[in-house]
Amino acid sequence: MKIFFLSIITTLIFTSDYQLSSPNKSFNLEIYNNNGQISYSLLKNQKLIIEKSLLGMKTNKFNFSEYLSIDNVNIRYNYELWEQVWGEQKTILNEYNELVITVLSNSNNTNSDFTSMKVRFRLFDDGLGFRYEILNPDNKEINIFDELTQFNFSEDSPSWWIPAYAYRRYEFLYANTLISEISRDKFSEIVEYLNGPRIGPEAVQTPFTVQRKDGITISIHEANLTNYSSMTLKANGTKNMECDLIPWSDGVKVRSNKDIITPWRTIIVGDNPSEITMSTLTLNLNEPNKIEDTSWINPGKYIGIWWEMIGTNQSSWGSGPYHGATTDKVMEYIDFGSKYKFDGLLVEGWNTGWDENWCCTGEGESFGFYHPHPDFDNKKIAKYAKDKGIRIVGHHETGTQIQNYEDQLDSAFAYCKRNGIRVVKTGYVNDGSQNIKRLGDDGKIYKEWHHGQYMVEHFRKVLEKAAKYEVSIVVHEPIKDTGLRRTYPNMLSREGARGQEFNGFMPKDWNNKSNHTTILPFTRLLSSPMDYTPGIFNLKDYRYNSPSDRTINTSHHIPSTIAKELALYVVIYAPVQMAADLPQNYEGHPGFKFILDVPTDWERTIVLNGEIGQYITTVRKDINTNDWYLGSITNEEARELEIELSFLDPYKSYKATIYRDPVNGGWEERPEEVIIEHILVNKNSKYKLILPSGGGQAIKFSEQSEK
Ligand code: NOJ
Ligand code: CA
Repeated sequence: MKIFFLSIITTLIFTSDYQLSSPNKSFNLEIYNNNGQISYSLLKNQKLIIEKSLLGMKTNKFNFSEYLSIDNVNIRYNYELWEQVWGEQKTILNEYNELVITVLSNSNNTNSDFTSMKVRFRLFDDGLGFRYEILNPDNKEINIFDELTQFNFSEDSPSWWIPAYAYRRYEFLYANTLISEISRDKFSEIVEYLNGPRIGPEAVQTPFTVQRKDGITISIHEANLTNYSSMTLKANGTKNMECDLIPWSDGVKVRSNKDIITPWRTIIVGDNPSEITMSTLTLNLNEPNKIEDTSWINPGKYIGIWWEMIGTNQSSWGSGPYHGATTDKVMEYIDFGSKYKFDGLLVEGWNTGWDENWCCTGEGESFGFYHPHPDFDNKKIAKYAKDKGIRIVGHHETGTQIQNYEDQLDSAFAYCKRNGIRVVKTGYVNDGSQNIKRLGDDGKIYKEWHHGQYMVEHFRKVLEKAAKYEVSIVVHEPIKDTGLRRTYPNMLSREGARGQEFNGFMPKDWNNKSNHTTILPFTRLLSSPMDYTPGIFNLKDYRYNSPSDRTINTSHHIPSTIAKELALYVVIYAPVQMAADLPQNYEGHPGFKFILDVPTDWERTIVLNGEIGQYITTVRKDINTNDWYLGSITNEEARELEIELSFLDPYKSYKATIYRDPVNGGWEERPEEVIIEHILVNKNSKYKLILPSGGGQAIKFSEQSEK
């Protein structure tokens, strides 16, 4: 890995306000001290986008919210190129100007061990990151009661959000309202009635994205969520938002007996929505890769014994006559996967624990993570998979029995290693709000939130343990991603949003609407890869009433088209992508070729156009060849998008293999018809994408010859 590093350190002492600009000068950060309170504001292209917003923190040991002064300021420039182990692009530029202020507390209430904190700001050409740093050399017990960080937008803009403190974790459709309109009632009115207890404040999850009238698009999130609880944004009926940390069951937000280095609070900004999707700020604010030998971490594609439970409802996870994960079935899937050179086969329901009421409260029989079900002949399967050149993708549904899982971690991952399993999908289904059981030191059971510090630490424990056994993970019902994949590249992918599964088990009015995947790239996907599991070809009349009653349930219809499903392999980035449908729906289908061809590791990515909730067109260059791939999708609205192919190599011509919907098709009309065409193009070509309602288009550009 080549690293170019250049830094200039200067120390400046100011007595008044402080300013910093980004390397290309498009951003300006301003810091103020007004009557002992410290605040910041942010300008983009000389326009104020974040008004004066307070900074600070209150704990049992110190109160950095008032009687403050700024003692010292350091400014530094950083320029560095680093390479990803896998990703949307190979090489990433980490260029920023940094400003660190040392803040002194002059309050009588502050413990004499904690009289100063640093706030470190990094201003990039794609936005701002800042964090608090408080040293704790004697390892005192610090309880954070409140982090005061505010994000006061200068305009009350349309925003896209999902609620925090709600029962179904991150798995919601997005609301689109003005910032000032954010509330649970509003969400219940326009998206989905929020049932469950109304505990916790009115708040939204991050990434939280807004678009101003002038087009400038801003997304608030965090980077490197470590030893802390996750940040939500509290709404108060105005255009101002503030950090709200998910608390422990006793109300404390964060507990630490180490130095407090908070996650970075990030503000990603672009002149338009497409620009923010290409931001690298979150990754740049994470620590470099800690895993020396990454040869066991492999991007790839997988199939699964999955849709037949979650989608078609013909099999069960639990034992009995409809059990999906039987030795014979697994071997059939291995044959199919190996024939088409898939890297992995996910097998769900292979282990013990599924038979008793495991879902969705953290109760039920304990799952066994190295205990195959009697009709899953683990040794035979491991050998068969090895002979056929495909790896089993393991599955650890924990049902949020956290202690049970932690007790088995070593044995569970050792089992994986023995059986040639290199990727495990974990799962944390629990549909309560604050319902994760934790065994306290006093032997009592406490109920924690899915996104508080207890779970942040649990997810990290699993990730590190998996790495020890050379296992990569894909987490369902995860903690949100804050860029940790840079530090732990075995953190391959995660769900953390409404995925394809909702199209499987939810009837028409409740499934993912056509616009859902046109919102994700500008919100959830800003943080990381997603295991959306695209590729459903049988979009209508696919679901039985139950495994035992094989009558087709006609209330299910997936609002997508085959061409759109193909486009999602490019639009939604993931280093491991699933071909989610049943083998029989792929065998012999001409559209399957695109799934077989499309890579999952890229040298470059460009988002050519996009409007949040309407459409997006993404192109990516394969890391191993000169081929490019395009994915373009639309919401309910049919549209035409004219694009230039100037991203193609100027010295080559390309054969474009186009997978498109019929012009008069769409998700309601002929969604399962895909038209395949070939044309010759080069970088001077223009091309018109014709997208019918709820449809999409996927294109492979294969390099032809030197011009
Ligand atoms: C929810 C996950 O998202 C899904 O993929 C999985 O099949 C079920 N839980 C069972 O673990
Ligand atoms: Ca899920």
